[in-house]
Amino acid sequence: MVQKDRENFGSRIAFIMALAGSAIGLGNIWRFPYMVGEYGGALFVLIYLFCAFFISLPILLSEAVIGKTARSSTYEAMGKLAPGTRWRMLGLLTVLSPFIILSFYSVVGGWSVDYLFRSCVSALDAGSQVSACELFGKVSGTSWETLLTFTVFLGMTALIIILGVKNGIEKFTKVAIPSLFVLIVAIAAYSLTLPGSWEGVRYLVTPDFSKLTSGTFAYALGQSFFSMSLGVGTVLTYSSYMKEDDSIVKSGIWTAVFDSIFAILAGFAIMPAVFSAGLEPGAGPSLVFETIPFILTKMGETAPVLSKAVTVLFFLTILGAALTSSISLYEVVELHLMERRNMSRKKACVVIFMAAWVLGSLCALSFGSLSGVKIFGETIFSFCDIFSSNYLMMLGAFLFSIFAGWKMDKSVVQGQVGKFFYFMIRWMSPVVILVIFVCNLVI
Ligand code: PHE
Repeated sequence: MVQKDRENFGSRIAFIMALAGSAIGLGNIWRFPYMVGEYGGALFVLIYLFCAFFISLPILLSEAVIGKTARSSTYEAMGKLAPGTRWRMLGLLTVLSPFIILSFYSVVGGWSVDYLFRSCVSALDAGSQVSACELFGKVSGTSWETLLTFTVFLGMTALIIILGVKNGIEKFTKVAIPSLFVLIVAIAAYSLTLPGSWEGVRYLVTPDFSKLTSGTFAYALGQSFFSMSLGVGTVLTYSSYMKEDDSIVKSGIWTAVFDSIFAILAGFAIMPAVFSAGLEPGAGPSLVFETIPFILTKMGETAPVLSKAVTVLFFLTILGAALTSSISLYEVVELHLMERRNMSRKKACVVIFMAAWVLGSLCALSFGSLSGVKIFGETIFSFCDIFSSNYLMMLGAFLFSIFAGWKMDKSVVQGQVGKFFYFMIRWMSPVVILVIFVCNLVI
């Protein structure tokens, strides 16, 4: 039942754009292209697509079914669908994990604000690999600067959230997602015109069986979980706002399709440029914040106007993609506080901002003044990243599929997702997660 006082998305397209927005993010832009090269080229893409559609999609559907049926936040949903049970812990877990992810994700979002600003007002000082590295060191390691840009990014996220589901999230993602596709296609087109770029294309489309290891499947699965925003309640929360007559399956498939296409396009935007410059595709933030600025600055020597335009567009794309994801994380906690603590949207937004600012600041400073502070041998930033992406997300995804597959009424779930996906939710997804989780612990 759609409750009268609850906000809802205005249309199916709006819901799909919001879900796709949550999915499309930093994970697509820097993690996916790098992983493709590292773990077997086209072979990794195929394994990734298999994981995305046969394991991750059923989990997305299980979260969506819970959200659409309960029409409430993660915690309240568990209380409604399984009253008086420990399942509420899952509701709490999925308030904690998006909160942690929001905090460190906003730090990276802040770096994109910084690079965008710098590339707008002057040329990036990244003409050599050393200066590109130094620039990133400055952006991430200067306390006041990283705190400022992180605050700006978190503030932008909060502003969209405060406007609400229809006026904030819906309006923003409806414009942002099509724009992001146009931008990434334009950047890929530019990248493919660079001399020697076909090496990069080869890197992306050649299956390399020698790189196939037992870990490949686990990496592909982990990446598809992160990319499709599973196990942290974002899908559940957004689905609680979907229209009654919308199809969960169709919306879920579209989300997986958009997310996968965007990741592949990002590969074609980044790798040809990297190869054209004769560089090795580096892992993680260095690819986006060191290698690409270096390449674009180099291009600026011969084509200053074009390279400046591409630089600005590139960081705008990263910022846009990061924002469409961060609002989905914020909204999970927002709805929890609104329903559980009876807070107004505004008040909840401010409370989350302050709390995420504290944890996020610790993450931000872990690249500079707090770099010596270690938790289990990791900096605060890395610990939050690893703990939430590798453990909390997996656990959340596993429990959501068990809940939808084994705890909820069969007729409700099967009625929404159909026989095939019901089977996948019950058997395939939880078993695969369990096997991979145990293998990871043992290996
Ligand atoms: N899917 C986002 C990305 O690819 C990250 C994310 C994870 C967003 C979990 C929301 C929830 O960057």
